[in-house]
Amino acid sequence: MKLNIFILPGDGIGQEVIKAALNVLEKVAKKWNHSLQLNEGMIGAEAIRKFGTPFPQDTEKNALLADATLLGAVGAPEFDHLPPERRPEKGLLELRRVMGVYANIRPVRILPSILSCSPLKNEVVDGTDLVFVRELTGGLYYGQPRGIFANEGEERAVNTMVYTKEEIERVSVIAFELAKTRRKKVTSVDKANVLETSQFWRKTVIEVSKKFPQVELEHVLVDSCAMQLVSSPRRFDVILTENMFGDILSDEASCLAGSIGMLSSASLGKKNESGIRRGLYEPVHGSAPDIAGQNKANPCGAIGSAAAMLEYSFGLKEEAYSIYGAMEKVLEKGIRPFDLKPSQKPATTSEVAEAVCKALE
Ligand code: IPM
Ligand code: MN
Repeated sequence: MKLNIFILPGDGIGQEVIKAALNVLEKVAKKWNHSLQLNEGMIGAEAIRKFGTPFPQDTEKNALLADATLLGAVGAPEFDHLPPERRPEKGLLELRRVMGVYANIRPVRILPSILSCSPLKNEVVDGTDLVFVRELTGGLYYGQPRGIFANEGEERAVNTMVYTKEEIERVSVIAFELAKTRRKKVTSVDKANVLETSQFWRKTVIEVSKKFPQVELEHVLVDSCAMQLVSSPRRFDVILTENMFGDILSDEASCLAGSIGMLSSASLGKKNESGIRRGLYEPVHGSAPDIAGQNKANPCGAIGSAAAMLEYSFGLKEEAYSIYGAMEKVLEKGIRPFDLKPSQKPATTSEVAEAVCKALE
């Protein structure tokens, strides 16, 4: 199979972890006889430095041409003083918008071999296996009006949380479909005791749920969800959230997986004529400028995202599951990057990738 992939390593540790993921992808391509057609581009701070914009036109064009896009991370402290419009993060938000990837799937699972790496009590975390379906192209991140305004000497700032019915419906369908393949439970997160958008969210999710009678639906308020994630994480199967709530809760939930370095994600849009969903794949972690360039970052999130790409965009389940299995084997052996607090010397980013390649043999 021809795998036409657009690569956007981006900023900070994005470069290192994507290199590691590509190493693993090359191994898989060789073993299963696929041909990798890679095209690399720029996004975020590196693109601002070179082209003066976090989202160059070529990046947009190539992302729309590729079957799938694999991204590292965006963000650099040197641009912290800039307004949101001109920051590196804007590149990623624009990419998600133009690709139309409205459903962000973030699995959170604790591998038995790294149970003790979680900062939470082992008996609480043990057996956690949940997945977020985060709405990704709407809500507060994109709502208009937005901005900082001055009126007759008074300054004010505005962001708008807005959802159309269709936006809620399509992401809900993804969550229910996913739940059907798992433990058949959807937890919809909202703040319906305060926000109209949440009341509308809840009402729409209930309507969609009628088409999925085999799936149980519950509603949990976002504050309570934040608490239950760390007190009883096993109760969750699929967690359906709007954009901002999902951003916050998924970082919190990374503590259940041992480290945020372990989390991968798939962002999916509409199916095209041939029934394929365009996809954007990225680890959940950020650019981590404090450890960038040290060959130290955990590449598991990026490698897992590459595996998710094989699974969702190319339908290559065997290859994808082999990668997940290989990563598990490597961690079991005690080959672990620094964030998993290994008892022996931490493995470097490239060593972890090498070990995964070896386990794939
Ligand atoms: C994430 C990140 C992004 C987000 C940032 C970098 C814009 O935190 O993917 O979770 O907020 O969506
Ligand atoms: Mn985030």
